[in-house]
Amino acid sequence: SSELNSDNNGHLILGGVDSVELAHKYGTPLVVYDVEEIRKTINSFKSSLDSTCLKYEISYASKAFATVAMYQVLKQEKLHTDVVSGGELYTALKAGFPANKISFHGNNKSREELEMAVDNKIGVIILDNFLEIKLLKEILEEKDTSINVMLRLTPGISAHTHEYIQTGQVDSKFGFDVQSDQDKEALQQVLAIPQMKLIGIHAHIGSQIFGVDGFVGLANKMVEIAADWKKEFDYTPQIFNLGGGFGISYTDEDEPIGANVFIDKIVSTIKEQTKSAGLPLPEVWIEPGRSIVGPAGFNLYTVGSRKDIPDMLSYVNVDGGMGDNIRPALYQAKYEAVVANKMNADIDEEVHIAGKYCESGDILIDKQALPKTEPGDVIAMLDTGAYGYSMASNYNRNPRPAVVFVENGKDKLVVKRETFEDLTRLDEDYI
Ligand code: LLP
Repeated sequence: SSELNSDNNGHLILGGVDSVELAHKYGTPLVVYDVEEIRKTINSFKSSLDSTCLKYEISYASKAFATVAMYQVLKQEKLHTDVVSGGELYTALKAGFPANKISFHGNNKSREELEMAVDNKIGVIILDNFLEIKLLKEILEEKDTSINVMLRLTPGISAHTHEYIQTGQVDSKFGFDVQSDQDKEALQQVLAIPQMKLIGIHAHIGSQIFGVDGFVGLANKMVEIAADWKKEFDYTPQIFNLGGGFGISYTDEDEPIGANVFIDKIVSTIKEQTKSAGLPLPEVWIEPGRSIVGPAGFNLYTVGSRKDIPDMLSYVNVDGGMGDNIRPALYQAKYEAVVANKMNADIDEEVHIAGKYCESGDILIDKQALPKTEPGDVIAMLDTGAYGYSMASNYNRNPRPAVVFVENGKDKLVVKRETFEDLTRLDEDYI
């Protein structure tokens, strides 16, 4: 997790702003993003890629955190973004994000979603399956227009990560299976459709990956596929999109190797292998999500009740939980937390940090060393920026939290806190 700053009062400072004041001003649970941290990460990806002298694009995987304000930051940083639903596409367009920098992913895009993508002339649709090729062909013919596409391939490469977030192995719901030559069938179909311009191939091997081997294996495999395609079909993809998945550190157990190492290895493999296969150098695209927003996000909670059990760890209960961050309950994901108003205090005890949801599994952190806490203290959970707010729910009819961006000593509310009224807005009477 990232380095933390605090002031003389022992208050955690985020983006130059006192986090305890944020908690009081906006209420808790509160999601806070340090925007400078987001920009720094983007710039470190850019400088690693710049030094490879290859053409590249960084396409932020917006499922990690997608709001109007986030898309506006991405636009300012001149990134591409990928979307995986009509809702994400709508949000990006509403934010004024340039349509030609949007890629559209998904293993079951609907006709309506595809039409929306075509009508808005987005940059590229990443084709995932045969039904989608057929649907998109019909839409393009009807509307007498054309669009860029890529083929998503399942390369048969497993990354070592949680089972639920692996995606590149053969037994996966995503993409065209390379082992059974579905890629070649898809390629032939797409090449025969004049309204589709095939610009590249895509694969994504998983998320929260620490080893570089999976990516090197993928780079090798992509060159192999491209060489095969060239020989059999005289077609060479101009873009290799290697997906996202770069791991971040949530606790001391995680040892990320740094984006530059990933990128060096991936690009040097592609350079060597394309050279020996007699292929032109492709453009390289990556789709980081977690690594861009994860370490920049903090969830602030207020401490309430407490339960002490003889000879066991106490439960320190906070005012949020699995509704604003389901990752601990869903993936046994680990996090670290600090007491934002007691940054200089000594550690006194180890506790469970528990949420307020009616479910025993709603434990945010199983074991956290903290100074002694009391009701009203503000707990900051670290590195919550990826797949936290974006996977938030209204379970137990709790309103979803507000989101605040901080940068250069200023704070700006970017998503309002939901109200009880919001919760019942779509409900209709029956009786
Ligand atoms: N590209 C594609 C095609 C993806 O499916 C994903 C993530 C990414 C890029 C971004 O991966 P990242 O850089 O964020 O690792 N909810 C899970 C993670 C699901 C990831 C799904 N796909 C979690 O909370 O860990």
